[in-house]
Amino acid sequence: MDPRIAPSILSADFSKIKDEVKAITAAGADMLHLDVMDGHFVPNITFGPKMVKDMRSITDVTLDVHLMISEPEKYVEKFAKSGADWISVHYEATDHLNRLVNQVKDAGCKAGVVINPATPVEVLNEILPFADFVLLMSVNPGFGGQKFIGTSVQKAKKLKQMSKDLNPALFIEMDGGIGPDNAKMLRTAGVDVFVAGNSVFGANDPAAAFRKMKSEINS
Ligand code: DX5
Ligand code: ZN
Repeated sequence: MDPRIAPSILSADFSKIKDEVKAITAAGADMLHLDVMDGHFVPNITFGPKMVKDMRSITDVTLDVHLMISEPEKYVEKFAKSGADWISVHYEATDHLNRLVNQVKDAGCKAGVVINPATPVEVLNEILPFADFVLLMSVNPGFGGQKFIGTSVQKAKKLKQMSKDLNPALFIEMDGGIGPDNAKMLRTAGVDVFVAGNSVFGANDPAAAFRKMKSEINS
């Protein structure tokens, strides 16, 4: 698929979130990444379905909801009803991944499976035919602004190879420490969707940072 950048609002200023969203979508962003954290699965707390609903009310772009929560089964429908388009669930957060992926699809969303940096891509073998996308964490989940973990590049390459046989329509998203300096290299490794928090919303001019990253990826 054509590459897409998913600005993560985790690094945005929530006191002026409407302006932030307007500026970044005007710059060409056609999706937003929303990080849901519960203080249990990850050591940080962000927001729940209400935030997704409020975002839905101010924009039509794809809402990519990354669930970093324990017992995700309990909340899938709530996020879908709130306006999520894509929902990704952690391999590490459930004993019944196949059931959970189907639950996301039945709720009308594209279903993504996320793996943490220490989880090998090989564990995805049996779920790949059922998933719409895989989200590879390139930092330990919980916080924005962390350093990119270099071994993630090899994981993307391996996953790209695996998907050729098991699910050619699968797309690969990567999340954590991504910016204009490594995005092009990651595109070459097989990444389709680039989550960017600090490198976009942490910049003085997020719209300019977004455009720069886009041109790097397409260069
Ligand atoms: C981290 C989140 C990321 C975060 C990425 O747990 O899943 O989506 O926003 O932020 P950056 O791009 O700053 O690493
Ligand atoms: Zn995320």
